[in-house]
Amino acid sequence: MTALTLSTAGAATLRADALVVGVAKGAGSKSGDLVLAPGAEAVDKAFDGKLAAVLATLGAVGAEGELTKLPAPSGLKVPVVIAVGLGTVPDKEDAYDAETLRRAAGTAARALSGFKKAGFALPAASVEDAAAVAEGALLGAYAFTAYQGGENKLAPKDAKNSGPKLPLAEVALVGAKPRDKAYKAAVERALALAEEINRARDLINTPPNDLYPESFAAVATAAGKEHGIKVQVLDEKALVKGGFGGILGVGQGSANGPRLVKLAYTHPKAEKTLALVGKGITYDSGGISLKPAGHNETMKCDMSGAAAVFAAVVTAARLGLKVNVTGWLALAENMPSGNATRPGDVLRMYSGKTVEVLNTDAEGRLVLGDALTRASEEKPDAIVDVATLTGAMVLALGNRTFGIMANDDAFRTSIHEIAEEVGEASWPMPLPADLRKGMDSPTADIANMGERMGGGLVAGLFLKEFVGEGIAWAHLDIAGPAFHEGAPYGYTPKGGTGSAVRTLVRLAERTADGDLG
Ligand code: BES
Ligand code: MN
Ligand code: ZN
Repeated sequence: MTALTLSTAGAATLRADALVVGVAKGAGSKSGDLVLAPGAEAVDKAFDGKLAAVLATLGAVGAEGELTKLPAPSGLKVPVVIAVGLGTVPDKEDAYDAETLRRAAGTAARALSGFKKAGFALPAASVEDAAAVAEGALLGAYAFTAYQGGENKLAPKDAKNSGPKLPLAEVALVGAKPRDKAYKAAVERALALAEEINRARDLINTPPNDLYPESFAAVATAAGKEHGIKVQVLDEKALVKGGFGGILGVGQGSANGPRLVKLAYTHPKAEKTLALVGKGITYDSGGISLKPAGHNETMKCDMSGAAAVFAAVVTAARLGLKVNVTGWLALAENMPSGNATRPGDVLRMYSGKTVEVLNTDAEGRLVLGDALTRASEEKPDAIVDVATLTGAMVLALGNRTFGIMANDDAFRTSIHEIAEEVGEASWPMPLPADLRKGMDSPTADIANMGERMGGGLVAGLFLKEFVGEGIAWAHLDIAGPAFHEGAPYGYTPKGGTGSAVRTLVRLAERTADGDLG
């Protein structure tokens, strides 16, 4: 894991392998100019006040995502200076938006893989700015290398296997006040949050032959011991005894049996309890309604909701938040086999409701239905589920935005505002009652499929029926942003992203502070 320190040295005296500064596009009277961001002053001085001019000569325009590397002048104690673009300079020159800083720090950190220590001389005049830079840098300093650099048995004995490039080892924040309590707390929060997001990414990226319900549950059990979280694992036998027909129905086709994991973080002075429910399909083949080639290569990501919930509970525990947070991981592998659920089968859910399974590829709602009912039994103040639930949500909102549905308009609005505040793109979606009749079944209480149009909302309506009366509930469909297949950008790597963790953690913090109803 990448270390995070608050540098006591200024940019001119810090010994490191690189220094990062920010550069923006001028606006207004400075239009067409390059404007150095606060934090770059000492570095600029070492360039005799010509850093902006040098960058312009090298073709820099200050655009977001832009990165310029240049050799450091002799006045600095680093060999390399990296200038990252911040987009158009804000009206107030020091008021850079937190997400802009996060992304810029992430872009720099990605370019610094293989480096040991880098000083980040980006805006840090406020605690919020320093926290954003820390978060972005730590999230950008991520690489999933566990399966790379294997020994090649055919290579000559003396051939060097240098292995994969490791992420930047140390992020040193320059300009943040190292002895100030508020800075220290913010940095501690950024570190806990980023480490748990990166751990969620590792889980998502781990191939499904190694990450299956039992092994995921074992990871949760170990983390529970480490962080004082009570963990209970229901195995197949316990699921049968409890009547969890949804989870069992999805998992029965696989040699790797399903699990329901409960993680309970409690605070002695907590006044509220938040329940988080995650879809944990460790591999979604579609089951008997098999997905065609081209649609199954990335389906190890179908446990991203459970990974997000797991990360959020651990982060809440590490931060000692004054709120109870219960996480429910609904884990199963959706496979076709002679034991698999068939299209046409009827399952009896944990709630008692019967479901006609018309399409075994609509499995997420089956495992979540059981987990939502189970979570409701404990009468939490609110429930949020997170799931890579539908391709329809990706069609609606694209690859970077998750949809939010809820049984309570005010709660949906709060979640949307919280997501915006932490820099996660999301959008409120409705649950139109008229779509319910598409799930009417001649055989059972409900079918697991409805109209094709509005498929993301249909799935949301299905889930709603498994939430207890009077409990505020929101559903985050993260099928788009959970797994990034394009080129890395900002702090977002290829593969698992850790989508929704920041929103869940802020929700827990707000609940702890009594900010929510
Ligand atoms: N896991 C998929 C949804 C998904 C699609 C996640 C793309 C990430 C990227 C889900 O289980 C699924 O297969 N949903 C079906 C539902 C349909 C059969 C009603 C879908 O969206 O096609
Ligand atoms: Mn599916
Ligand atoms: Zn799925």
